[in-house]
This record gives sequence, structure tokens and C-alpha cells, in this order.
Amino acid sequence: MITYSTDTGKQSIKDYEFTRKIAIKEFGTSTDKNQWHPTEEDSVFVMNNLPECMNIIRDDDNFIGFTLIIPSTRELMDNFINKEINENDLWLAVKNRKVTLDNFSAIYLCSAIIDKNYRRRGLSSNGFVKSIRKLIGKKNVKPILFYWAYSNEGKLVADKVAKILNLKLEKRIE
Ligand SMILES: CC(C)(COP(=O)(O)OP(=O)(O)OC[C@H]1O[C@@H](n2cnc3c(N)ncnc32)[C@H](O)[C@@H]1OP(=O)(O)O)[C@@H](O)C(=O)NCCC(=O)NCCS
Repeated sequence: MITYSTDTGKQSIKDYEFTRKIAIKEFGTSTDKNQWHPTEEDSVFVMNNLPECMNIIRDDDNFIGFTLIIPSTRELMDNFINKEINENDLWLAVKNRKVTLDNFSAIYLCSAIIDKNYRRRGLSSNGFVKSIRKLIGKKNVKPILFYWAYSNEGKLVADKVAKILNLKLEKRIE
């Protein structure tokens, strides 16, 4: 059975380390200076402070993918999509507690990777939608979503998520 950690609450540092390693491999974060280079300490920060932002997706006990969002403000979003700041700056605003779950007004669709055998079943779009709904909760906030296109599939997922949630979507300029 497919489950999402935003529903089960089941997350461990082992899951986070797994997602970090596959992300580094998939996105080459260690060579691109504009990308956030997540450390083990960052994983611990997300797990302790923003667990609903990370959605660990499992089939029974097997890890099959994840989605990760980062809360942001509209000002940071504008700076990021206009290339005035990079992904690491977005992350540091959260880590330094300038952006919190109480004051966010935009949400960065940071990353998603789904096992090849499970793609096109709506898992990453569901993962994002569930996390975003958790963040919004009962707050009277209509955040703008934004992303940095990595693959065409990633762009299509962002489009689908924005459509499902009826939220505006912005893209970082190429
Ligand atoms: C991008 C990725 C996470 C998508 O995961 P997924 O679970 O297969 O995506 P979904 O099933 O939720 O797809 C959502 C929508 O995106 C579109 N889409 C996704 N993959 C597609 C593909 N290969 N071809 C055409 N459309 C695609 C479709 O519109 C789909 O909705 P639909 O099935 O209702 O038509 C997955 O392909 C992946 O891990 N890719 C490698 C890493 C990557 O590129 N990550 C994205 C950037 S962070």
C-alpha cells in the first residue's frame, strides 16, 4: 500500500539521509553553486522544525520517493525567480528563522524524485499537494507557488499541483 509521511507521521533521519543522497546524485548539487547543498544538519533541521514539508512516500515499508517544499515570502520568491538570490539563500532564510510556518506567503516546490517503477501514478503531485495543505492548514493564506525547472516532468508536476490547489505559480527565469 502506498503511504505518505504527511498522513502517517512516519519519518526518520535514515529516510532524510536517503533523500539527501539521491538528490545529490540526481541533481548534482555538489557541483552547481546556485543550488542548495543540503547537509546532514539541514536534514535534522527540516525533520525537527518542518516535518510536513518533507513527504516520504512508501510502498508498504519500501521507500519509493519523496517531495520537499520550502516555505518562503513573496519578497524572497521575487528575488529568487529574478535570479537576485540563489536556492541556498532561500534555504538560509528558513534556517535563520526569517521565514517560519507562521509568516510564509509563498511556497517553493523544491524537489521531488520518484522511483522509475512508480512514475505517472500521481505520487509526486499528491506528495506536494498533501504537504502544502498541511502548511496552509486553517490559516487564512493563499500562498504563491514557485519552482526552478529542472526537468520537463518537474514543470508538468508543478502545473498540476497549482491547478489542483488553485494557487498561482511562478517560475525562475532561465
Ligand atoms: C518529476 C517526477 C518527480 C514526477 O513524478 P511522478 O510521480 O511521476 O509525477 P505525477 O504522476 O504526479 O505527474 C503529475 C503530472 O505531471 C505530468 N507528467 C509527469 N511525468 C510525465 C511524463 N513522463 N510525461 C508526460 N507528462 C508527465 C502529467 O501531466 C502528470 O499528470 P497526469 O498523470 O494526471 O497527466 C519524476 O519523473 C522524477 O522523479 N523525475 C526525476 C527527477 C526530477 O526530474 N524531479 C523534478 C524536479 S525537482
